[in-house]
Amino acid sequence: MPQLARLFFYEALASLALMCGIIAYKGKRTNAAEIVLKGLKKLEYRGYDSWGVAVRSNHTKQISIYKRTGKIGELNLKNIKLPVGNLAMAHSRWATHGGVTQKNAHPHASCGNRIVVIHNGIIENFLALKKELQKKGHKFISETDTEVAAHLIEEYLKGLRVEGRGLRVQKLKEAVQKALKRMEGRSAFLVMSTDCDAIVAARRGSPLIIGKGQDGEYFIASDIPAFLQYTNRVMYLDDNEMVVLDGGHEFYNVSDGKSVKKRIVEIHWKPEQAEKGRFPHFMIKEIMEQKETIHRAINQEEKLIMRVADSINKAFGTYLVGCGTAGKVCMAASYLFSKIAKKHINVEFGSEFPNFHHFIKNRSLLIAVSQSGETADTLEAMEVARKKGAKLMTIVNVEGSSMDRMADLAIHIKAGPEKAVASTKATTSQLAILTLLAYACAGKLNEGRKVLVEAASQINDMLNPRYEKYISMLARKIKHVESMYVIGRGMNFPMALESAIKLQEVSYIHAEGFAGGELKHGPIALISQGTPCIVLVANDETRSDVISNAIEIKARGGFIIGVAPQREEVFDYWIRVPDVGNASPIVNIIPVQLLAYQLAVLRKNNPDMPRNLAKSVTVK
Ligand code: G6P
Repeated sequence: MPQLARLFFYEALASLALMCGIIAYKGKRTNAAEIVLKGLKKLEYRGYDSWGVAVRSNHTKQISIYKRTGKIGELNLKNIKLPVGNLAMAHSRWATHGGVTQKNAHPHASCGNRIVVIHNGIIENFLALKKELQKKGHKFISETDTEVAAHLIEEYLKGLRVEGRGLRVQKLKEAVQKALKRMEGRSAFLVMSTDCDAIVAARRGSPLIIGKGQDGEYFIASDIPAFLQYTNRVMYLDDNEMVVLDGGHEFYNVSDGKSVKKRIVEIHWKPEQAEKGRFPHFMIKEIMEQKETIHRAINQEEKLIMRVADSINKAFGTYLVGCGTAGKVCMAASYLFSKIAKKHINVEFGSEFPNFHHFIKNRSLLIAVSQSGETADTLEAMEVARKKGAKLMTIVNVEGSSMDRMADLAIHIKAGPEKAVASTKATTSQLAILTLLAYACAGKLNEGRKVLVEAASQINDMLNPRYEKYISMLARKIKHVESMYVIGRGMNFPMALESAIKLQEVSYIHAEGFAGGELKHGPIALISQGTPCIVLVANDETRSDVISNAIEIKARGGFIIGVAPQREEVFDYWIRVPDVGNASPIVNIIPVQLLAYQLAVLRKNNPDMPRNLAKSVTVK
């Protein structure tokens, strides 16, 4: 393939691979298909446009596959007619450029359906493997890279019809292992076979979690909520590992086939935390949860906070690294460290961090900030820093995630499952922890706690129905605008950037954030009559300058929406926030989250599943 075509092709594949949901069941229940499809529905928040399921029939030992484009909808399993079986797996896929066909949906089968595979990720060398397999007589049905895996595993089993269940499981494991060694790229695979009633899963770069239920019952999923109603006891598959579930579990290293011991970890999330409850969308539920999540976040053991603070104080350069919203949180934190602890902290987006590896020493400290703990670029940054011998820490929501396990020390933000793609409660919890750390670095932990406890209780008061109504009134006024701008200064400049992300993600209105002082250097040319501009104000040394910027915008016709502790004359519309000192970024972002949500609903967008975006970007 010419280089450019190949580039587009891989880009397309990467976008196909972003948001796949995976769930499998192996156990005593005979309604495995129903269990995995219900589990798949719990992963709907990831977004998808086709889905499929494979079940091994208890009666015929054959594997039935059912796949469709579109949404799963209300499940009527009678219409789907899947066999009774206690081994099944399901997959949801979302293609952003082309390729949304029934044939391309997972699961994919080898010739004669002997091997069936679901997959998240990219098999980078699939074209070469496909050619090789075609030469050997394999017939391909789909255009996907995944199908190669099914044929390749089958190829390694060719001619092998061994007697004895144990041996058949062993041969399947070996064939999967051989195939894995041939396939390049970051992936997660699940493999079923007509040969035996075991399921094999493997991971290289894309998360898979094994849930252990009662009586030899197992689940495998890309996200814990898919099986949380059955079990909270989990084991994590690490990179370059595979697991065989066969009534029991056996983990192996893919390279040498040696057994690996695993610890069972108990997850503290409750199944109802992962449901919408009385709310129409996860996004609004998660915004409202901020009434309590900040309290939970700062309720940390003093020893842990002081250990991290001590490491920051001693490090030969501290790097805060995150992607998307988490990256903006890191930026805001750098202002807080400067102001509160008089400390310079470096900030990099995960994808850019490797460019600075020249400065990383074994006395450097990298703190990865992430909701999911699985973002590929942030993980890569950690890998780069590790190679240089740097210390690794993380501030993360998902316990047991890759970042959590990779870090030398982790602070869990304890926000509970965040399902809406646009991050809200995880953002403010990360900000709270970083604010606390800045105070701790300055030897003022108690003062930091006081500021944050006060902010948390003020947020509780702020998020009342009247407040929501007021913001929804504003949303109605501006719902048809083409562009919006957000400005802030100091620690509220990164929050202006984050505000723009929130607005873009769910309202699809063109939104941009700027540092107030940068306005005159270009962006002010974009302001025309009626252009909404949100001004984030803190009651600190930046206040008068940002208000002057608002006046400049207003003079060019801008419609000024002030998010501020006090009313200013320049505001056309004032959204009141509590005056909480250095917790200002936390309280200022919340009304913008609400506004973005309201705009999404008014513009008939699904705020939980914005187009083209994924909750957890597990490929680069
Ligand atoms: C995606 C999500 C964002 C998130 C970013 C980083 O782009 O849509 O909401 O901020 O990834 O994710 P992380 O899980 O590392 O915080």
